[in-house]
Amino acid sequence: MLNTFQQAPHPMLPKSTHDEASRQEFSKSLKQFVQQGLLPGLQPVFTQRASKAFEQEHGRAPRDRREIRKVMEPDLYFQHYAALNRIAQEMLWNSVIDSVERQLPELIDSARSWSAAAKSELRMDPSFVPPKYVTALDIHCMPGGYASEVTADDVSVAALYDRGAYLYGMGFAGPLNDDMGRSVCNYVQRQLPGFKPRRILDMGCTVGHSTLPYKTLFPDAEVWGIDVGGPVVRYAHARAAALGVDVNFAQMNAEATDFDDGYFDLIVSHIMMHETSGKAMPRIVRECHRLLSPGGYVIHADLPPFDLMSPFTQFILDNETWYNNEPFWGAMREIDQIKLAVDAGFPADSVAFATAPMAIMESAAQGAAGYTDASASAVADREFNAGEFAPGGGWEVLIARKAVQA
Ligand SMILES: C[S@@+](CC[C@H](N)C(=O)[O-])C[C@H]1O[C@@H](n2cnc3c(N)ncnc32)[C@H](O)[C@@H]1O
Repeated sequence: MLNTFQQAPHPMLPKSTHDEASRQEFSKSLKQFVQQGLLPGLQPVFTQRASKAFEQEHGRAPRDRREIRKVMEPDLYFQHYAALNRIAQEMLWNSVIDSVERQLPELIDSARSWSAAAKSELRMDPSFVPPKYVTALDIHCMPGGYASEVTADDVSVAALYDRGAYLYGMGFAGPLNDDMGRSVCNYVQRQLPGFKPRRILDMGCTVGHSTLPYKTLFPDAEVWGIDVGGPVVRYAHARAAALGVDVNFAQMNAEATDFDDGYFDLIVSHIMMHETSGKAMPRIVRECHRLLSPGGYVIHADLPPFDLMSPFTQFILDNETWYNNEPFWGAMREIDQIKLAVDAGFPADSVAFATAPMAIMESAAQGAAGYTDASASAVADREFNAGEFAPGGGWEVLIARKAVQA
């Protein structure tokens, strides 16, 4: 298996015993085996076996991802792949739960102390009710989801996410799980030279993985992360303080925030939209338009639309909808997001899809020197080979600019 980044330790991250760490590494390796060992086998199974059977019956090849699913589901190879993928997903969260539960009282105390010492603001709302699309099921099989609270000042699901997201990404998001934020920051630097936002909002920030790079890139800006999950916002604030980064966090719904009209010059989100709903998404896009100052930018990094890929790739990616508790995953890729932005008030010629190359890939070319934060020094002392980094691509971003004049 590839030797990817180890996670950078920080004071809020739950510590693992030897046995816990071993189970976690196993679950990460199992996930890698499914992705790199089993997944590539699905294409020949489809073209050489399942598609041929369909052609014999219908006189033509399957046309779309739904027909492909129909012929792949009964196939034993596919069944083994899908079952093992689900088992690996459940196993990775389970491998972290013990260490979180064992240390919960210390984690809560630690979060309180770091938050109290922070220069930045934490806004919690005791009367807040998270939307159903977040609480109705455990998204991507993470026990408790983002919003469960079982004790006062609970941070358990947040600690679970911080460690679990590293295993989920198999280390490819970098030592601080912040590759999406870094990648969009690089994109902003390249595509919008001279742009200096005074206030930045990260919607659906979870524990702040992607939020912190914006403060690094724009140290003079007032940076906010918001999320509907109470525990993740609490933890995010403490984690940022522990890492010495001055970012404000608030428990708010991106559909209707408490900020004033035109307060932000830059609004970003990273893989939030696909975890909302068909009703919420247009509201969020409208809220972004309201919150932006004239000439301000919004950048949502999320899933590429289905029409940009082959039906077989659509089928593979849509497995998340079917087997990983991601009910909006596929539906979101069929929404006309450009139209959504135009309907919300963004000028049509300012709205576009683009790709932000993965920062981690670019760092591979420069060596670990691409990671300059002190907190990422864990990687600075060793050399990395290109094969250690995530294969391919970048993050798909939807970018829009509010008109300079109303
Ligand atoms: C996959 S996580 C995002 C990860 C995070 N942005 C990062 O880069 O590490 C999705 C997050 O969006 C949050 N979320 C979903 N709907 C939201 C809404 N309407 N307003 C604010 N946050 C929301 C969830 O609670 C969850 O924390």
